[in-house]
Amino acid sequence: MREAERGARAVLDPVHFDYLAGGAGEERTLTDNEEAFARRRVVPRVLRGPGGTDLTTDLCGVRLAAPVVVAPTAFHRLAHPDGEAATARGVRAAGGLLTVSTMSTVAVEDVAATGATTWFQLYVQPDRAFTAALVARAEAAGCRALVLTVDSPVRGRHARDARHGFTDLPAGLVCENLRDADGRVRDLVVDPDLGWDAVAWLRATTTLPVLVKGVLHPADARLAVEHGVDGVVVSNHGGRQLDGAVSSLDALPGVVAAVDGRVPVLLDGGVRRGVDVLVALATGADAVMVGRPVLWGLAQGGADGVRSVLTELVDELAHAMALVGAHRPRDLTPDLVTVP
Ligand code: FNR
Repeated sequence: MREAERGARAVLDPVHFDYLAGGAGEERTLTDNEEAFARRRVVPRVLRGPGGTDLTTDLCGVRLAAPVVVAPTAFHRLAHPDGEAATARGVRAAGGLLTVSTMSTVAVEDVAATGATTWFQLYVQPDRAFTAALVARAEAAGCRALVLTVDSPVRGRHARDARHGFTDLPAGLVCENLRDADGRVRDLVVDPDLGWDAVAWLRATTTLPVLVKGVLHPADARLAVEHGVDGVVVSNHGGRQLDGAVSSLDALPGVVAAVDGRVPVLLDGGVRRGVDVLVALATGADAVMVGRPVLWGLAQGGADGVRSVLTELVDELAHAMALVGAHRPRDLTPDLVTVP
């Protein structure tokens, strides 16, 4: 994955690379997401054959070939001219699932038209009628779940962007999902007044499964389940919101204990190799999301680059599982992971 990042850096405008790669503040949390995985070691089991490896995972009504989902990330046309449409074609070729961001630079309808399986990531806007219309667009486009991002009451402070003066998309690119009925593009509002009533509102607005993304505290995981969500994503937004926030992997056990099997738990942040997926699953996640590695694949090779990043990750996971003596994701248990 390091290579993919280096390759992307070589082809991208440095300002855009830094927007995609960077994090908040001193990037402590960004760094720690990856280091948390590097701190873990796996304790394999032996002589567990026969059985082969079956990664099939059912998640919120979708059957996945592997427990790996593409995280919602904004502005794919900064990485490749075809943007999210290319990402979606790559995801489809890999048999994966793409979470389309509210801030995508290709309209959700055009992303879904590629035939990829999709979820839609939602930033609830203070204008609830506009938000309901956006949800209806995602539903009509065929998205299979909504992922409500809850870790952004205010914008993260990205030092790299500040240094470059990067504040707006280049001319010609817009957030296509933020168009009004009359075609005007709205500014995204991050809403400091958002509360748990937004979850109840969304539940009443859609029949789709609703996941909340950006939970780190076990008490919030408990509240999310009490508010009827269908899944919880343990995430610190890839280190782009609160610098100093706990790494996703270190937060995972607390959330898993609080959720207690009632809904699926996903993790994102720092997943770079198949063994990272294995460690997350053994620590209690039902699936992982990956953000930046997909953007690096997109930058370098468009749809084909995305397909290649995803298939390599899943192939590494299958290989690591064989070496650990696990046949299915449910065979991955906490005793297989240690912090030496
Ligand atoms: C993001 N992320 C994000 N999350 C979200 O809910 N809506 C969004 O629009 C975005 N946009 C976005 C842009 C970019 C460039 C990045 C890198 C990330 C966060 C994303 O969904 C995910 O939480 C992290 O990317 C996961 O960490 P890794 O895999 O990038 O380490």
